[in-house]
Amino acid sequence: MRTVNWLFIVSVALFISGIGFVIASARTARSAAPAAEVAVVTIPVASVKQIMGAITGPAANVIYGAVSTSVTAAGIKEVAPQTDEEWAVVGNNAAALAESANMMMTDGRAIDNGDWMKFSQQLLDTSKEAIKAVDAKSAIGILDAGGPINETCDNCHEKYQRQ
Ligand code: HEC
Repeated sequence: MRTVNWLFIVSVALFISGIGFVIASARTARSAAPAAEVAVVTIPVASVKQIMGAITGPAANVIYGAVSTSVTAAGIKEVAPQTDEEWAVVGNNAAALAESANMMMTDGRAIDNGDWMKFSQQLLDTSKEAIKAVDAKSAIGILDAGGPINETCDNCHEKYQRQ
């Protein structure tokens, strides 16, 4: 009889902690902020070529094209983001460019632990400069970030791009 009682108490305790768990996880699911300690091992899906073609290339083009000065017969034409929405588009693309660098460094996609990581890190760092320029709404900052970003593309392509 004693054993039965204990089993009963243990199962009630498990039931209650189970409910607590459900409530706790429902609360976690509701908060939109990323959890601090999630250790998910992600498995790469896209190839480097696909990331380059779909994310890195288009995102870099938005940044390169965001600020320019051209001299025409009609005069000097300055192009720069004007509205909050236009700045946000540049910011989104700078962030996507930075994330594409993170993707390059993902286990299972990184080609080696040397120059590949170095060039990817440079792309990440220079993209962050573009993000800072967007935060400061600095057109000249965007222009300044463009050159170093482009250098990282050239450096890596020179060594790794398959012809
Ligand atoms: C860490 C290395 C690395 C960096 C940094 C890098 N690339 Fe690449 N990129 C590659 C490799 C490798 C390929 C060739 C992929 C293949 O053909 O399999 C490539 C290919 C490409 C392609 C051709 C995609 C296609 O469809 O053939 C484009 C466009 C491109 N990169 C744009 C960029 C731009 C723009 C930047 C800089 C903002 C950049 N890449 C930075 C490694 C890099």
